[in-house]
Amino acid sequence: MSVTVRVPAKVNVQLAVGAARPDGFHDLANVFLAVGLYDEVTVTEADELRVTCAGPDAGQVPLDRTNLAARAALALAGRRGIDPCVHIHIAKDIPVAGGMAGGSADGAAALLACNELWQAGASRAELLAICAELGSDVPFSLVGGAALGTGRGEVLTALDIGGTFHWVFAMAHHGLSTPAVFREFDRLAEGRDIPAPVASQDLLTALAKGDPDALAATLTNDLQPAALSLFPELADTLAAGRAAGALATLVSGSGPTTAFLVRDAEAAALVADALSACGTCRDVRTAAGPVPGATVIEG
Ligand code: C5P
Repeated sequence: MSVTVRVPAKVNVQLAVGAARPDGFHDLANVFLAVGLYDEVTVTEADELRVTCAGPDAGQVPLDRTNLAARAALALAGRRGIDPCVHIHIAKDIPVAGGMAGGSADGAAALLACNELWQAGASRAELLAICAELGSDVPFSLVGGAALGTGRGEVLTALDIGGTFHWVFAMAHHGLSTPAVFREFDRLAEGRDIPAPVASQDLLTALAKGDPDALAATLTNDLQPAALSLFPELADTLAAGRAAGALATLVSGSGPTTAFLVRDAEAAALVADALSACGTCRDVRTAAGPVPGATVIEG
């Protein structure tokens, strides 16, 4: 018996970051958009818990119990008193340590797949609670579409989206650690008053209208200066995308993947070609969103 779940990457169209909290996390106003770059996670009954991974970044994926997919299986098995004897295979297309929630996506997908495989009967609410325990971005990977995340990003409000937005994503030559980027944010913020994060009304209106020009004018990422400080070459990639006609450019989440909003699929192909030629990217992909969250496709 096996179950396969397909799960999308995300881009943050707004990432407003507050001051560090006593627990070390930061309050966020985090507007997530799920985009059509996918991992597929297959869980199969086995003698013991095992993780394997295939794909261009597979060598960078931990295969032990620190992998969010393994942690998801352990969390559900622990709640149900089940032996977590399952082989989790990740067919990975989402960049690793890229700021596109690839690890979180695998956690949400493994949870949904194990719930199905074990007929564990967890409700949507219980699955979301387990996701929130696993990480701040994991609940969004389960629900997909578009949502505003508050708290540390795990408290979700679904958003209405009036159309499809087209993107180009440029993968960098190495990853960035999310905690390191938040630490750099804190260092750059030292001595400044950090306002409480709030979602931009103009941005929410642009999303609701499906208007790429209005969205381009309102994209923001408070982590971008920190990501650029740790990875200055990203500025060259952003400039290359801008020069090639992207409506707007930004670092995706904590980076280092860079995101380029474009008007349509044709513009996406032009910007992708220019970025591929510019020499600062390991890979360039086009994708559109919103798309649904983690979905069982087999089993
Ligand atoms: O929740 P998650 O495990 O994905 O977070 C990874 C790290 O990112 C945290 O340990 C913390 O350093 C940082 N983080 C944060 N504030 C958030 C989300 C993440 O400081 N809202």
